[in-house]
Amino acid sequence: MARYLKPIIVSALLVPWCWLAYRVYLETLQVGSGLGADPVEGLIHYLGEWSLIVLLSAFSVTPLSRQLRWPVLIRSRRLIGVFAFVFVITHALVFAVFYAELQWRVFLREVIERPYITLGMASLIILALLTVTSTRGWQRRLGRRWKQLHRWVYLAVPLALLHLLWLRKDGYADVFIYSLWAAVMAAERIHHWRAGERQKQSRQTKASVSI
Ligand code: HEM
Repeated sequence: MARYLKPIIVSALLVPWCWLAYRVYLETLQVGSGLGADPVEGLIHYLGEWSLIVLLSAFSVTPLSRQLRWPVLIRSRRLIGVFAFVFVITHALVFAVFYAELQWRVFLREVIERPYITLGMASLIILALLTVTSTRGWQRRLGRRWKQLHRWVYLAVPLALLHLLWLRKDGYADVFIYSLWAAVMAAERIHHWRAGERQKQSRQTKASVSI
């Protein structure tokens, strides 16, 4: 099973792209038939939703691998993280091309003036940094600092959730589900960290007693 894990994950992650390609194809046949009444809005929403789903999936890999006692799962963490970044950057590019019409001044003004875009952009910058440094080479180069840097995902996830919460005017059901998903995964990580700290403390106490 471990041998097939990566191909299975890649295939699963390609499904939303294939579905998008099909919808774009329908759109080329008849305007409004693939991406909705406003195709650009349809595109940006589709990519935004998938950005969040794949980002939360990447955030879930470590807790799930621990709870399922399946360490092999960790090997797919980088792959899912890179896919999340590809979704997010495409989502932002659609905004830059169709809303800001590649005018960087307009783009920058939107980022500064619209708080939900500021939040999304902050999350994107963190994810870009994490994607670039996710390779073995960077892991070796940064040593202990690599882990510290990759803890920034704890900021990238809430920023992405706030981006969605801020832009929504009504219908918060999915925001609630995504937030609950992130909170459960964060709780598992905190629980694991506290158990580690307790173990460390008891080892230190034992060592000082034996001295
Ligand atoms: C990690 C980063 C990001 C995530 C996870 C994310 C996710 C999302 C989600 C889930 C939506 C709502 C989709 C819906 O309502 O169905 C959305 C909408 C949107 N996002 Fe993002 N986004 C991110 C970053 C960005 C960035 C960097 C930009 C722009 C530079 C951006 C621009 C927009 C815009 C313009 C909308 C549509 C707003 C509207 O409906 O009026 N997002 N995003």
